[in-house]
Amino acid sequence: MTEVLAGGASNYGKVLRVGETVRRPLRPHSPAVHRLLRHLEDVGFVGAPRFLGVVDGHEVLTFVDGEVLLPPLPSWAFDSSLLASVARLVRAFHDACASFPVLADDGWDQRTPARWSGSVLCHGDLVRSNVVLRDRRPVALIDFDLVAPASRVWEIACALRHWVPLRGEGPEGAAAAPFVTGERLRAFCDAYGLPAAERPDVLDAVLDAEDLQLRLLRQWVAAGHEEYRRIWEAGAPDRIAARVHWVTEHRALLLAAMT
Ligand SMILES: Nc1ncnc2c1ncn2[C@@H]1O[C@H](COP(=O)(O)OP(=O)(O)OP(=O)(O)O)[C@@H](O)[C@H]1O
Ligand SMILES: [Mg+2]
Repeated sequence: MTEVLAGGASNYGKVLRVGETVRRPLRPHSPAVHRLLRHLEDVGFVGAPRFLGVVDGHEVLTFVDGEVLLPPLPSWAFDSSLLASVARLVRAFHDACASFPVLADDGWDQRTPARWSGSVLCHGDLVRSNVVLRDRRPVALIDFDLVAPASRVWEIACALRHWVPLRGEGPEGAAAAPFVTGERLRAFCDAYGLPAAERPDVLDAVLDAEDLQLRLLRQWVAAGHEEYRRIWEAGAPDRIAARVHWVTEHRALLLAAMT
């Protein structure tokens, strides 16, 4: 049985399920990602697919049974318990990576802004479609193409944009009060265990992440990537602008709730 898996954008139409395995196109730094996946297996971290080998220019990974959240979101996508369990999985991933030997020539993705550089090996792409859920709980992170050393604040900010989320939206399209969003930011930081001293930086990192996303989208569209063109035309720049506006407008309240 071979099936094209939906959910992603960068490898749109190119991620295949073959039986109980997944095949994804290789990237220049895939060998480093494969070393990392082997490391995660060795240290007993179960929240990632296993690396099985390389076939025809593709990495072969275990298929993780479950689902990813795609729009339209069910109301339980906004449960605080889901948010907290995603934060705990991200923390467990960072902790499991701490003993991984990063090498000078690993060639990790380079897109992290210099301000948010650091030594925590980060997933780098914690969108909803890169977290597999089972029974409404996250069981695995997938898609390690953007792994890179960075600061944990950067990783958390990138995850918060999608998982809180940060445009003042709530279940079933209703608006969420800034107070509620502030509580959700805090819940994520608490469950992750982000020290209070680092929390004031999180919203700056969110705004930098929005800026980066807009610039990258523009580049990909200009380079002729069809799926990103569709995402662009479906209003991605407006959604980014709305998040920037909303976070900037409610910044003081959000910060107070988080710290
Ligand atoms: N190992 C796996 N186990 C289960 N499902 C998977 C696995 N890998 C990928 N998928 C499914 O396939 C979808 C697309 O895969 P993937 O995230 O690798 O694509 P992508 O185009 O590289 O994504 P992105 O746009 O985030 O870079 C995921 O959202 C998920 O539904
Ligand atoms: Mg993906």
